[in-house]
Amino acid sequence: MTNLTPVHFFSHGSTMMLGEPSDSADYWKRAGDEALAHKFKGVIMMGAHWDALGDRIEVATNPKPGKSPVAYVHPSKYVDYELNPDLETADRCISMLADAGFDVSGNPSFDWIHDTYLILIRMFPNGCPPTVLISMNARFDPHFHMTVGEALRPLRKEGYLLIGSGGAVHNLYRNNWMPMLRFSDNFAQERPPEPWALEFRQAVEDVISHNSGPTLRRAMTRLMKHPLYREAHATDDHFMAAMFVAGAAGDEEDEGVCGELKAETWELTNMCNSQFTIGSWPRTLASAA
Ligand SMILES: [Fe+2]
Repeated sequence: MTNLTPVHFFSHGSTMMLGEPSDSADYWKRAGDEALAHKFKGVIMMGAHWDALGDRIEVATNPKPGKSPVAYVHPSKYVDYELNPDLETADRCISMLADAGFDVSGNPSFDWIHDTYLILIRMFPNGCPPTVLISMNARFDPHFHMTVGEALRPLRKEGYLLIGSGGAVHNLYRNNWMPMLRFSDNFAQERPPEPWALEFRQAVEDVISHNSGPTLRRAMTRLMKHPLYREAHATDDHFMAAMFVAGAAGDEEDEGVCGELKAETWELTNMCNSQFTIGSWPRTLASAA
């Protein structure tokens, strides 16, 4: 048996997921508690709001990153939360990605965005663990992002927690924003989600919960050819983290370990915030660390 940490694909949803209680937020906290209980080394995360141009990817190396402001959330929920960039591990990630053939460099001026620190605050409300953020690439090639996850996968054997923060069904153009804009109610659900949203949400769950190893990688990338993909994702940015996760959790060594849907929160009628975890914490990690 290997000492592989689990991998999370989290759907961060709207900014209000930071300030409002939800089943998803409860699960994020449980996942954080579990990581702390196993004395994990830190977080390696790809979000959905930062992409590098050309063929490049970047790794956040700002020693004192600011936070981009978050709409519809009281500042007290995030302004005082101290971010904890892990520059040493960031350099290692850059080396690992360069060795895998990527055109990669550090970005010493990048400020963090809510796609990543929303999750960190919810998982680790008592303090940010050492964290490395990996950018996406703006061409949004699924295989490219899967290979990024594959290149960083060895860090799972060292006790790092790899997280993709994106969305299962995330099309801002198909959301019903009115209850949030008028009443600050992101969970109103005045009518059921539309059939395309339900259908694609099910396709994502089926792929993650019934595939493992290289089959997971193939199935996840294939989701971008699903007939309803473009309805569910008007832009590709919130699905790249799923590719990263498939790369990180889809080696031959991962065969037999299917993901599980741990929590789910619908927002704004048609946005489905599904929370998946692939694998579980090895018993030996806490003593080996
Ligand atoms: Fe987002």
